[in-house]
Amino acid sequence: MRTIDLNIRIREFAFDEMNEADRYLLEQAKLATNNAYANYSKFYVGAALLLADGSVVIGANQENAAFPSGLCAERSAIFAAQSQRPEQAVVAMAVAARNEKGFLSQPITPCGACRQVVLEMEDRYKQPVRILLYGENRIFELSSIKDLLPLSFVDAHMHG
Ligand code: THU
Repeated sequence: MRTIDLNIRIREFAFDEMNEADRYLLEQAKLATNNAYANYSKFYVGAALLLADGSVVIGANQENAAFPSGLCAERSAIFAAQSQRPEQAVVAMAVAARNEKGFLSQPITPCGACRQVVLEMEDRYKQPVRILLYGENRIFELSSIKDLLPLSFVDAHMHG
């Protein structure tokens, strides 16, 4: 028997420490929360994707009276981007969330299903997606979704 320890790397920033491009992407994610349809949870999530050509695509969570029919902000943004610009790799994703009291003080992290969908993009375009997770008190940066999804499953695993 042996124990396998896994390392993940998270960089923590104050908003002022971020460069202009990252601050812009985070601001776009914050703005995208205004497009959430979150009548049930009252939890408003925004995602902003940076595409390889420098353009930005946003998404917001979309809920439904039949709860499982809704979709997270991250997948809303990803599927919109991939539907409109499939030739463009997604190189970064910023996520922000607020409730009725305002933006969360701590960074929000994507749910498991969204992590798997981001992983599929990394696999599809053969490049990592840098992740920026917004909190009022601190921002997390990860250089790949693999830091949020260790022992991940991709297509290649089905072929041995
Ligand atoms: N939600 C997101 O959009 N992204 C996340 O990372 C976590 C959760 C949404 C789904 C649902 O509309 C609401 O937040 C409450 O779970």
